[in-house]
Amino acid sequence: MIEVKNLKINYDKIPVIKNLSLLIKKKEIVSIIGPNGCGKSTLLKSIAKLITPISGSISLNGSPLSLFSEKSLSKKLAILSQHNTSPEDITVKQLVTYGRSPHKNWYEQYNKKDYEIISWAILHTNISSIQEKKLSNLSGGERQRVWIAMCLCQKPDILLLDEPTTYLDIGHQLELLTLIRELNKRLGITIIMVLHDINQAARFSNHIVMMKDGDIIADDTPDKTITKENIKNLYNIECYISKDPISNSKYIYPLDLSI
Ligand SMILES: Nc1ncnc2c1ncn2[C@@H]1O[C@H](COP(=O)(O)OP(=O)(O)O)[C@@H](O)[C@H]1O
Ligand SMILES: [Mg+2]
Repeated sequence: MIEVKNLKINYDKIPVIKNLSLLIKKKEIVSIIGPNGCGKSTLLKSIAKLITPISGSISLNGSPLSLFSEKSLSKKLAILSQHNTSPEDITVKQLVTYGRSPHKNWYEQYNKKDYEIISWAILHTNISSIQEKKLSNLSGGERQRVWIAMCLCQKPDILLLDEPTTYLDIGHQLELLTLIRELNKRLGITIIMVLHDINQAARFSNHIVMMKDGDIIADDTPDKTITKENIKNLYNIECYISKDPISNSKYIYPLDLSI
């Protein structure tokens, strides 16, 4: 369980997260949605302890994040950032292997168990056929799966994903979201992701956090949060809301802007 209490974060003295509290239960799939610049990435980074708040607290299963070393936190939680960089000339397998490093001391060799976990991560993300390829030669969809494989090598309980589907075509978006759902279902990993597509968020998550100007304006199931009023409040657009006839989740149709 993750508990965020009265979180406040500034950049250069400008408040970005103001007084945010949030509870995330184990094994949930949470989607954070909201307009550009509202603080979604900042919230995700603070949960991964990449940003230190001005005030407030974040705890993981009852223990404050401040008690975790970088290494001990990496065994519980992995983050796939919005913009991640890597040396382009390394192979897929080499990158995935880096995911084991939180579990090793610098002097320790990788052992049979490490290699089993690396193979397991490669298998679960369906990248066996590309494992010897160079990162620079991968498509966007392959690249995201490789990064997720690296995260899985950390054997995390929680996976944070910042806009994992951005720049992917619809087929690869669906493939990635299906993979994320499978990781949640089969391995029990709690997922917290930032998505822009509200209909995908409704379909693939059981908890939606709506953020605006560094605050949460709604935080509940997709059915309860996806309302005309909340969408208007978030994006200043009118919409028609129906149900996806296949998944039965809420489905929004944005209406044309009147000029
Ligand atoms: N490193 C930084 N230094 C200064 N301002 C930042 C930094 N990172 C983000 N911001 C600002 O903080 C606000 C929230 O950013 P971010 O969390 O990235 O938003 P989102 O992910 O919702 O688009 C934005 O106004 C952005 O310009
Ligand atoms: Mg962002």
